[in-house]
Amino acid sequence: MSDHPVQVLRSVPEFRAACDAVRGRGERLGFVPTMGALHAGHLRLVEVARRYAERVAVSIFVNPTQFGPNEDFSKYPRTLERDVALLGSVGADLVLSPSAEEMYPKGETTRVHVGELSEHFCGPFRPGHFDGVATVVTKLLAMAGPCTAVFGRKDFQQLKIIERLARDLMLPVVVVGEPTVRDADGLALSSRNAYLSADERRRALAIPRALAGAAARFAGGERRAGTLIEPVRADLAGAGLRADYADIADPERLFPFALDAHVGERAVIAVAAFCGTTRLIDNLVLGEDPAPAVSA
Ligand SMILES: Nc1ncnc2c1ncn2[C@@H]1O[C@H](COP(=O)(O)OP(=O)(O)OP(=O)(O)O)[C@@H](O)[C@H]1O
Ligand SMILES: [Mg+2]
Repeated sequence: MSDHPVQVLRSVPEFRAACDAVRGRGERLGFVPTMGALHAGHLRLVEVARRYAERVAVSIFVNPTQFGPNEDFSKYPRTLERDVALLGSVGADLVLSPSAEEMYPKGETTRVHVGELSEHFCGPFRPGHFDGVATVVTKLLAMAGPCTAVFGRKDFQQLKIIERLARDLMLPVVVVGEPTVRDADGLALSSRNAYLSADERRRALAIPRALAGAAARFAGGERRAGTLIEPVRADLAGAGLRADYADIADPERLFPFALDAHVGERAVIAVAAFCGTTRLIDNLVLGEDPAPAVSA
């Protein structure tokens, strides 16, 4: 598969035509939107897309509208050549790598706002972020046309927002969410892990360890929201991580439980925490996801 031919497209009309051509041949299209700097989590999404479709398209676009003014847009890793080679090795067929001007032509003004789901977890800490995500994903899905689009559950809130917009805007897309791929030590794979020093990376393991602890308490019958989430907050603080939030919420509406509430048989714990200057996110759906296997 390593010499699988990958067609790299730069423009919206070329990408749309290539996607139309796939369906025109009677083949199904899978689609994996990314920001590049690919890792094994992304490659898993491509492999999953291949189970749904004969042809798989991947977009690589560092989307300016989802970065805040003080975030890492300009230093975000860009490794297109390596990414295309990796995509060839897992059998992707089409890569869309557009310029910012191609995606946001001069004079454009439209933004997609999904509402309630954007208001919890990362919403308050990254104003405008999810409007940027929803806008770019809407554009990408509109270009790709009918397809199965595969996203990662590492970005659980993003996945819920994309499911919502696909339904609300009646896009001809099946949205699939795939489990988080983790490194052997338990840390969720992320392109931003490349920013971590060796010491920061060790301390970052407090995140999967805290989630595993909550999973163990849940498995032992604990259903009090406070008793599930407060040790997670303490573990993060104990490792010197500065949490934007660590919340436990209803996994459909993402509305956080009060500390004295009892959670049901499914609840999502989501975390965003700074390790040095790198902001990491992770989550676990209690009652659904396996606990992260963490090294001692
Ligand atoms: N560890 C992972 N396991 C499964 N899917 C993942 C993982 N990391 C990212 N994804 C998914 O890959 C897609 C593209 O994400 P993106 O390019 O932002 O990568 P990323 O690793 O999340 O980068 P960053 O953390 O810098 O945002 C999204 O659907 C995202 O949920
Ligand atoms: Mg991401």
